[in-house]
Amino acid sequence: MTTLGVAILAAGQGTRMKSDLNKVVHAVCGKPMVLWSVEQAEALGANPVVLVVGNDADAVRETVGARAQYAVQAERLGTGHALLQARDLLQGQADTVLALYGDMPTLRPETVARLLALHQQRSPAVTMLTVGSEDSMGFGRVARDPQGRVRAIVEEAAATPEILALTELNCGVYCFDADWLWERLPQVSPTLPKNEYYLTDMVAMAIEDGLGVETVSVEDVSEVLGINTRIHLAQAEAVLRQRINESLMLEGVTLLEPAATYIDATVRIGHDTVIYPNTMLQGDTSIGQGATIGPNSIIRDSRIGDRCRVLASVVEEAIMEEDADIGPFGHLRPKAHLGAGVHMGNFGEVKDAYLAPGTKMGHFSYVGNARIGEDANIGAGTITCNYDGHNKYTTVIGAGAFIGSGAMLVAPVSIGTGAIIGAGAVVTRDVPDHAISYGVPARPKEQSDDA
Ligand code: UD1
Ligand code: CA
Repeated sequence: MTTLGVAILAAGQGTRMKSDLNKVVHAVCGKPMVLWSVEQAEALGANPVVLVVGNDADAVRETVGARAQYAVQAERLGTGHALLQARDLLQGQADTVLALYGDMPTLRPETVARLLALHQQRSPAVTMLTVGSEDSMGFGRVARDPQGRVRAIVEEAAATPEILALTELNCGVYCFDADWLWERLPQVSPTLPKNEYYLTDMVAMAIEDGLGVETVSVEDVSEVLGINTRIHLAQAEAVLRQRINESLMLEGVTLLEPAATYIDATVRIGHDTVIYPNTMLQGDTSIGQGATIGPNSIIRDSRIGDRCRVLASVVEEAIMEEDADIGPFGHLRPKAHLGAGVHMGNFGEVKDAYLAPGTKMGHFSYVGNARIGEDANIGAGTITCNYDGHNKYTTVIGAGAFIGSGAMLVAPVSIGTGAIIGAGAVVTRDVPDHAISYGVPARPKEQSDDA
């Protein structure tokens, strides 16, 4: 059995991003760039996965955590030097070493699997990924002899016009025989003008040693985009967005306009759900089956049940049980929890509150720090006055209660089961079950109040 270790090269400075953030921590479809690479490795069952980082990589370590081990390349002396920094963590741990980049999120795990499979089948010293492209993208060229055998990789800066005309490019992704790699990598000598140690020199070395070099070609050049600028970042985002959207559509999700539908890689959606345009589904979000989402909605880190409707609304860290609906122009804030079939209409806001099944809150209400029983009616403009400038207080509303329009419920306060609150009431004291309370401040309804 062969064992696979992976080194992900990510010590580059990323200066062209013009960012305070380490390049590989920038998100692509909601997932930090470097995690796409880590997942390329994990998909192959690699162990260990070693990330080669620069000195200033706290954000990278925070992002990846224990999913990788870390090798530090203190000085950026080239790709060969970068891989050498991973030797202590990899040597003796794996008999095949795969080198990946931390800035190539669009590379498909299937493509890397194809590279590894050929490597294992043929057992050369190196198996490398190449791509045919008229646009050289500044990549190294793959030079072959008249028999078609790989001779070397030639970097663009050092290439003659004949070499420059070659359209087979080196993607920078390689499988190495580990014993050979660790013996020969330290012998790479620096190349002018920048005195960098080129990992690409290993290819010519393998030929020199009379060992084989195999190539696997990737058809789709968009898989090997290395991200150096924000323009590349947007290109990678578009590639992965399309891939995510197409895979969801194949699983039975309808997207009316995929190009205007922004779904993070981390989102799960059930079949027969319809997503309207200008919708962003982000983070740890799941959406059930048969739901209708958008247009113009943002849902982040939330759980949306089967057959829910979210119309032109913002939902953050919230839960909607099945058949609940919100919008247009609703806002669920953290810890909002709408039970099954809850209806929340225009301009409603709910934060840290549970609305039990069947409750209706049709218009212009704010409910925060509250628990509302089943089948309550929250009249237009009802406000839970939950904050006194220092602390938050809880409002409890019993099942079947009817809260009249424009009521102010001054927390802490509790409205009983089946109680009725008159329109415009300012409720400062608890209201018993089935009582009627109205006015400012609200008081119980007396016999003599009947006109
Ligand atoms: C490299 C290849 C080139 C290939 C191209 C594909 C070499 C000499 N050239 O070129 O043939 O076509 O990739 O994208 O390898 N890195 C480090 N430490 C370093 C230098 C680089 O960790 O000292 C990392 C970078 O963070 C990046 C990756 O290695 O993830 C590639 O570095 P980059 O500078 O982009 O390589 P190229 O010169 O573009
Ligand atoms: Ca590059």
